[in-house]
Amino acid sequence: MEKKSKPPFYVTTPIYYVNDVPHIGHAYTTIIADALSRFMKMSGREVFFLTGTDEHGQKVEKAAAEHGVDPKAWADRVVVRFFDLWKALDCEPDFFIRTTMDLHEKGVQKLFQILLDKGDIYKGEYKGWYCVSDENFLTEDIALEKDGTKICPDCGRKAQVVSEETYFFRLSAYQQKLLDHYASHPQFVRPQSRMNEVTSFVRGGLKDLSITRTTVKWGIPVPGDPAHSIYVWFDALHNYVTGIGYDRDPALFKKFWPASIHLIGKDILRFHAVFWPAFLMASDLPLPDCVFGHGWWLKDEAKMSKSKGNVLDPYVLIHAMGPDPLRYFLLREIPIGLDGNFSHEGFIHRVNSDLANDLGNLVSRALTMIRNYFAGTIPEPGPEEPADADVRKAFEETKDRAIAQYESYALNKALEEIWAFITAVNKYLADNAPWKLHKDPALHPRLARVLLTAAASLRGTAALVAPVLPGSAQKIWEYLGESGSVRDVRFDLLAFDSPGLGQAVRAPEPLFPRVDLKAFLAEETKPAKESAMDEQKPLTPEQPSAPQPPIPAPPVVPAAPAKPLVTYDEFAKMEFRVAHVIEAVKVEGAKKLLKLRIDLGTEQRQIVAGVAETYTPEQLLGKKFIVIANLQPAVIRGVESQGMLLAAVAGDKSAIPFFEADVPAGAKVK
Ligand code: MSP
Repeated sequence: MEKKSKPPFYVTTPIYYVNDVPHIGHAYTTIIADALSRFMKMSGREVFFLTGTDEHGQKVEKAAAEHGVDPKAWADRVVVRFFDLWKALDCEPDFFIRTTMDLHEKGVQKLFQILLDKGDIYKGEYKGWYCVSDENFLTEDIALEKDGTKICPDCGRKAQVVSEETYFFRLSAYQQKLLDHYASHPQFVRPQSRMNEVTSFVRGGLKDLSITRTTVKWGIPVPGDPAHSIYVWFDALHNYVTGIGYDRDPALFKKFWPASIHLIGKDILRFHAVFWPAFLMASDLPLPDCVFGHGWWLKDEAKMSKSKGNVLDPYVLIHAMGPDPLRYFLLREIPIGLDGNFSHEGFIHRVNSDLANDLGNLVSRALTMIRNYFAGTIPEPGPEEPADADVRKAFEETKDRAIAQYESYALNKALEEIWAFITAVNKYLADNAPWKLHKDPALHPRLARVLLTAAASLRGTAALVAPVLPGSAQKIWEYLGESGSVRDVRFDLLAFDSPGLGQAVRAPEPLFPRVDLKAFLAEETKPAKESAMDEQKPLTPEQPSAPQPPIPAPPVVPAAPAKPLVTYDEFAKMEFRVAHVIEAVKVEGAKKLLKLRIDLGTEQRQIVAGVAETYTPEQLLGKKFIVIANLQPAVIRGVESQGMLLAAVAGDKSAIPFFEADVPAGAKVK
């Protein structure tokens, strides 16, 4: 019988406003999406994972004005923080959409026009209370305050009365169609509590929706009527179709639309579960399978948000222990639908108990014994005994249950299943005491069987945790002597043991060092000097629309004849600083040269670098490297160079040492 191929999987996050720096709340949605994307890939599905930024509207206009720059320049500055954070968290979207991209703006205008032609969009007059912060008109049932104003129920800020000529979307015509859809697709809104909320809202009646503004200039112009800008939510929601090729790449669009899951925070449920499906119905596009409204991360029992001043900077945790502990904690601690209160105590406790103790110790104990007792290679084992068979069986069952949980988006439960297995393997080792078996050479075949069982368990565990702990899973994979990437494992082919286990295991390094709570809290409450939250980020030009091509491998550098020694004083005269690249172009007529505009924190400069035979201008955008900042300016091929970057050079090839860490532009290098 022909095997049915699995359907493609398309997962999205909300596109984040560029009026804010990303915090742990934003990171949460993107981490869920990344884990699902990795899981589905390992399940053999073709996957598309989309995230991006929401760059139009009054909020962004306002934030830009406050910083004295135009909105696009502001968006260019803030978007880098999102790129950097996703990279630091090992999140790998397939595409990063910005609503200021041409491909998006054109798509939105086209969809607007279609609805206009159809009569689902019409022109009228709107007067109502509008919340600038949430970009939302307040519903009429909200009562007036004593001072005659209305307060936005979502953010608690004062709303303003806005009156203007506007285009309306005929939302009222979709009330029954939406209710029918909810009834026939009970999984359309998840969890169930959110479906109930949405259904009762729609049952309460839907009014037509104002979808343009004349008061907001920073937006996509209405086709043929540019005095009107398209309302930021009509603009933003369509990123989910423009981001996978609507009107641009029919094959891609056909493959992935409709989305399998739109992951959103519960704050934006109505937009996604009412307006968005109505827009799609009007454009005759199929509806997504599921809108999943996850809970909020709270700090001190309040939703983390910049306005409340209780946001947590993910970099503090990433710098201290890498991305995996944060990914694990956020996904393990609460079911996706519920709220969670973030406490550092809770975080450290989980890292120490689940990661350092349970998993980290198992890896280091098992591998150290294989190395100490068998020089790293397990010999022919003795027969499988019932205790070993139980572990094998437990793995098979864990695998099935964990996969089923991942598939239903219950990531915390998938991890619970895997950790129950890890606990069982730790117990198995304690019960079978390899350290005792080792003392009697006659028991070495038994010892080999026990350690083989432990190694097979670790191999299977590495694959199962890979969607959530990609970096650590890969390390375990490599410590076991496995070749390639754990992400290439396909779950339907994942067996408990493998011929690969005859190979030598490597010396493991501690995967998750235990964290001392007191020391950590002392460090955490210091001013976040290394944090990305407050740093001045560079202005960048239009970012590449897809993940950047890999940077070429460094060339082999032949040993150069040594130069005479310099004194410390001579060396101290040189001023080395961190530069962020904000623009890169080729120098006309010079095949080796690139002209770079760099940010040195306090100023921007232009330098000329002879690296064009190794790097394209796009590959250098947003990169951070060291420059000599106090070098006499020089004119190279008619272009002034105000400094010099450092690179290894071999023949025509060069290799620039880039900073991976989030170092601010202009930082001194000593
Ligand atoms: N730009 C709109 C979304 C448009 S989608 C077509 C927006 N942006 S936002 O930046 O304000 O928030 C986006 C999302 O960030 C929220 O829906 C949620 O997914 C996530 N979170 C922001 N703060 C959060 C918490 N404190 N906790 C959990 N998630 C939170 O709304």
